[in-house]
Amino acid sequence: MKTSELQNIKQRYNIVGNCDALNHVLDVALQVAPTDLSVLIVGESGVGKEIIPRVIHDNSPRRREKYFAINCGSIPEGTIDSELFGHVKGSYTGAINDSPGYFGVANKGTLFLDEVGELPLATQARLLRVLETGEYIPVGGTEIRKTDVRIVAATNVNIRQAISEGRFREDLYYRLNSIPIQMPPLRERGEDIILLFRLFALQMAEKYKMDRVVLDEGAKQILLHYKWPGNVRQLKNITEQISVLSPERTITAQVLSQFIPQDHETTQLAPIHREGSGDHSFENEREILYKILFELRGNVNDMRREMSALKKQLDDVQTASPVAPQVEHMPATTFPTPITQHPAPVASVEDAIAEEYIEPEKEFESLNLNDMGKQMLEKALERNHGNRKKAAQELGISDRTLYRRLKQYGLDQ
Ligand SMILES: Nc1ncnc2c1ncn2[C@@H]1O[C@H](COP(=O)(O)OP(=O)(O)OP(=O)(O)O)[C@@H](O)[C@H]1O
Ligand SMILES: [Mg+2]
Repeated sequence: MKTSELQNIKQRYNIVGNCDALNHVLDVALQVAPTDLSVLIVGESGVGKEIIPRVIHDNSPRRREKYFAINCGSIPEGTIDSELFGHVKGSYTGAINDSPGYFGVANKGTLFLDEVGELPLATQARLLRVLETGEYIPVGGTEIRKTDVRIVAATNVNIRQAISEGRFREDLYYRLNSIPIQMPPLRERGEDIILLFRLFALQMAEKYKMDRVVLDEGAKQILLHYKWPGNVRQLKNITEQISVLSPERTITAQVLSQFIPQDHETTQLAPIHREGSGDHSFENEREILYKILFELRGNVNDMRREMSALKKQLDDVQTASPVAPQVEHMPATTFPTPITQHPAPVASVEDAIAEEYIEPEKEFESLNLNDMGKQMLEKALERNHGNRKKAAQELGISDRTLYRRLKQYGLDQ
């Protein structure tokens, strides 16, 4: 593959990086695109798997046909067959019309099956059949339908382990894995880490209308040697945090270390496993909830102490040196200077602190079970840099349960 061709693809899809492993991935994607072979993209969470199916589709003869990305982990088990393979009218309560399903509407196009490792076994059997014969039977139907769909799948779970545990069909794995694409973890991408930081810093500077943060040599070394369990997604989140929160625009090792989590986060909880079931009972969830509540209580107390100290500092500064109205109450160096002035973002931070400041005992008392659940989810997502799968694992609940809860608490946006 010519370098210029790779550069074009990177520019078109905003892909940053130049390490051999990433170039190889793009190279394979472009080579396999014109064929109809199934592709399985594997790699840790947050490595950037989702862009590859799009690259494949756009560079295939199917580029003018439909492309659908389906997150298999987020569709409830009860409806996934019908979503994928359609249903006939009256096949179940609520099936008021015939539905073609994704395999029907994507005919001649490409389906990206994300988190394919989450598919229930019965659905895996249907998928295998359609992959092998191009035929499927909609839910509740008897008539065979034909389709011509190219499949690209992705997973961050260890499929071989899933096979040995009987959770994934070996025959389906081989069928999907005609062309495997292994996305490299961020820690193995060398200088790409710095390039990605630069990209995200630029994006944040633009988004928040402020000077961009730059790394000094010491900080670069930390980024290069950190293990990045959340990969590119984590780097993006950390760059955003630094961009918004660091008063300094040149990031030193010392500043950076405040944003990079230490290895042993005290908030980690061992997941609770129940034998022979992917899901957990409410009792189990409640157990986890209580454990987390105690942790949360400790965190709330810590936060209270930090907030009191911060509030005191703010009051001191305010009494000592009244400053311009737009940055009222805030020391000039506490927040990055916006390039253009926006409606007093700084003053609202203090307001926010004041509003959020609640006596810890009261807050603890006021947490009802719902709030606890919501906070628990938010915390778990935060600790896992927004990665739902990992948050679910940490909480010891299934992906599906997590998605349900996110919806319930309005956190699914
Ligand atoms: N090489 C890259 N250049 C620019 N942005 C990237 C790159 N790789 C990943 N990203 C960004 O990192 C984030 C995470 O990528 P993505 O959602 O594709 O991860 P994933 O591998 O699908 O993770 P998961 O298995 O958790 O779903 C996205 O915002 C994506 O745009
Ligand atoms: Mg993904």
